[in-house]
Amino acid sequence: MDFLKEIERRRTFGIISHPDAGKTTLTEKLLLFGGAIQEAGAVKNNKIKKGATSDFMEIERQRGISVATSVLAFIYKDKKINILDTPGHKDFAEDTFRTLTAVDSVIVVIDVAKGVEPQTEKLVEVCRMRSIPMLVFINKLDREGKDAFDLLDEVEQKLGLRVTPMSFPIGMGYDFKGIYNIWEKKLNLFSGDNKTSISEGVEFSDLSNPELDKIIGETAADTLREEIELIDEVYPSFNQEEYLEGKLQPVFFGSALNNFGVKELLEAFIEIAPSPQPKKAEERLVDSKEEKLTGFVFKIHANMDPKHRDRLAFIKIVSGTFKRNAPYLHVRTGKKVKFSSPNAFFAERKEIVEESFPGDIVGIHDTGNFKIGDTLTEGEALNFKGIPSFSPEHFRYVNNADPMKSKQLYKGLDQLMDEGVAQLFTLDMNGRRVVGTVGALQYEVIQYRLEHEYGAKCTYENLAAHKACWVEPENPKSDEFIDFKRVKQRYLAKDKQGQLVFLADSEFTIQMTQNKYPSVKLHFTSEFKK
Ligand code: G4P
Repeated sequence: MDFLKEIERRRTFGIISHPDAGKTTLTEKLLLFGGAIQEAGAVKNNKIKKGATSDFMEIERQRGISVATSVLAFIYKDKKINILDTPGHKDFAEDTFRTLTAVDSVIVVIDVAKGVEPQTEKLVEVCRMRSIPMLVFINKLDREGKDAFDLLDEVEQKLGLRVTPMSFPIGMGYDFKGIYNIWEKKLNLFSGDNKTSISEGVEFSDLSNPELDKIIGETAADTLREEIELIDEVYPSFNQEEYLEGKLQPVFFGSALNNFGVKELLEAFIEIAPSPQPKKAEERLVDSKEEKLTGFVFKIHANMDPKHRDRLAFIKIVSGTFKRNAPYLHVRTGKKVKFSSPNAFFAERKEIVEESFPGDIVGIHDTGNFKIGDTLTEGEALNFKGIPSFSPEHFRYVNNADPMKSKQLYKGLDQLMDEGVAQLFTLDMNGRRVVGTVGALQYEVIQYRLEHEYGAKCTYENLAAHKACWVEPENPKSDEFIDFKRVKQRYLAKDKQGQLVFLADSEFTIQMTQNKYPSVKLHFTSEFKK
């Protein structure tokens, strides 16, 4: 098959949701459709258990298993589908943000009863900022939930999306009869009392046809007619261009657990979702159809076996064909590198691959040379953008608990930060190191891994910081900036890239600082430069 066809048939995406909305179940159902797994439950085992707050060993173990499932690939109707797994646990949200730099589109799963939840809001915001095309799947329709129109409103209001329903539920919970597929003008009904079997969708383009009353009952038929009429009036109709530009989000309803509406979602997905997209590098826009290889590291996974400190770096191919044993340029270090055993991923396994195409993910064994965000090319000095750090929510000083092992401690911290486990700040005033994380869980993970993988010990001390603000002065030589640095001296630090960061202790302080020093901009992500 030729190169362009390979690109066109790829769909690389992520599923995002608040924990428990049904991401794992939906993933599994998609894999079942693709014939990639034989039974339900296969993906479930990789899920970090709910309520796990201190059992980091278990979490690490499960993360270990999930190496194979970090990318789940399957073929459906000749489309090569790559699902990039995003951890549901909120303490690993940074991981999810980074994975979102490697997807071409996303599916957002929402629980019909719970509506839009905080984690969904955060993740969708990131996708919105980057104009990533999004499909919304409203799940668990077999349960009593919110009114469908109220939910659509909520999605618009809370997530800032512009929605277009592609399907609409007929009844809900106990009365859930099925779904009207607006897109294909088909009626999909449950058959049987236990709501486990589904009829194949029957064409039903004219809802005024009295046949509808016979099939779903008069009341339900009337309601459906009114609802579809309202949808026609109120919502924009589907427009693929707007969807691809991130300006319109199609919404589907269904029940992942009962396999209802999943096939419709998948069929629509392969039809409308984008194949690998051009990606911005600092230097220029790189088109996926370019023949020379480019790619970037979006995730690094530590080996679970402490005796082997190698790691798996996940590379998203942006353009060109990745070939085993071909020499590539590791742009940051300027070194030529070759990979003798690159891995490709499938649903339940990974295997050595000879070549990969744009949209694919390749896993490379790494002994500590790669960092998140690193770029590979055939010689061009390119740096892909878009792996920003967000402000951590927790901050602690790191103290060395074993003075004989300080070298190990700093090396360990350095490498864990390269993996993106947490962020490291060095205080300007006294050089003390501060670790910032999204969740408290990371501190235990770091402590444990420092000890087991690097033989170093650390303790923590709380730092009363609220947010890390990346500082951008209009004029670094202005009196205002000099005054800012003098007054805030105790709270200034450098991140790992050497950028200046202000560790503010409250929202109030941020406000006050912005008022007092209007020419000193405070940003909440590390990537604020154009
Ligand atoms: P997550 O990955 O987003 O965290 O969610 P997951 O798929 O694990 O689903 C969370 C719970 O919701 C699971 O139940 C799952 O079975 C259930 N679920 C998913 N889709 C549907 C649906 O369409 N209808 C209904 N009624 N339930 C659904 P659990 O009891 O927490 O786990 P389990 O014991 O079933 O594994």
